[in-house]
Amino acid sequence: MLRLTWFFMIELRSPSEIESMKRAGDLVARAFALLRPHVRAGTRLDELDRMVAELLRSEGAGAPYKGYRPSPSVPPFPGTVCASVNEQVVHGIPGPRKLRDGDIVGIDIGATLGGWVGDACYTYAVGDVSPRARKLLDVTGECLEAAIAEVAPGKRLGDVGAAIQEIAESNGYGVVKELGGHGVGRKLHEDPHVNHFGKRGHGLRLREGMTFTIEPMVNEGTPEIELLRDGWTMVTRDGKLSAQYEHTLAVTRGGCEILTPWHLRMDETAAPIAPAG
Ligand code: MF3
Ligand code: CO
Repeated sequence: MLRLTWFFMIELRSPSEIESMKRAGDLVARAFALLRPHVRAGTRLDELDRMVAELLRSEGAGAPYKGYRPSPSVPPFPGTVCASVNEQVVHGIPGPRKLRDGDIVGIDIGATLGGWVGDACYTYAVGDVSPRARKLLDVTGECLEAAIAEVAPGKRLGDVGAAIQEIAESNGYGVVKELGGHGVGRKLHEDPHVNHFGKRGHGLRLREGMTFTIEPMVNEGTPEIELLRDGWTMVTRDGKLSAQYEHTLAVTRGGCEILTPWHLRMDETAAPIAPAG
């Protein structure tokens, strides 16, 4: 069998470096709590963006998404946050669009503090959402929670991906395959890439000190996605809903630690998320 070897550069962070990352992550969590009362019908997406930009500025933090450009063929990302409504999967540009009752809106927030990056996403329900939307949010939260429960030294990324895929697909949903989680630390995107699908017992073996995100994108219908002409916004191919939750995590001796605790900062009960170990 031919085995292709890919060289990764995975940094292992010390407990004190992880403490520093927690400060960046907690700022991200506070931003989600700040937005919560404003995520309601009539609010413009660019108002939400401005509130987070002001919070980061007042805390002396940087905005790692702003101006981000994965390749020269992509325009710089114009926002501090991403705001993805309904059939938008990820990377929605926060513009003048107003939220409407019944929308779901995924807000993705990054912050750089003391040279360390925190990255997380939370999908809010705007007012009263349909039972269909509510179920998608709940199952997507369950996917992230189950994935986090797999994270511990000696476990593998395939265990993480499989946990997500099993829950999403057993509910008839599609897991987006083209985009994944990622190492995060000094930079927003580092090795390794984290698939939200996979096979238990396969993939990279986790070690204490690894820091990465898990950010499942779960579609109500087809897992297929398309890119809009703005160069950023990804949408579902069938126009059905998509949801996403994301945390930045550190692998610890006994399991893992969530570095972006929006579930605590927002007093979240719908998708209670606890680390393994
Ligand atoms: N959590 C998202 C990601 O890892 C946020 C990226 S927004 C971008 O892809 F603008 F920076 F691309
Ligand atoms: Co991310």
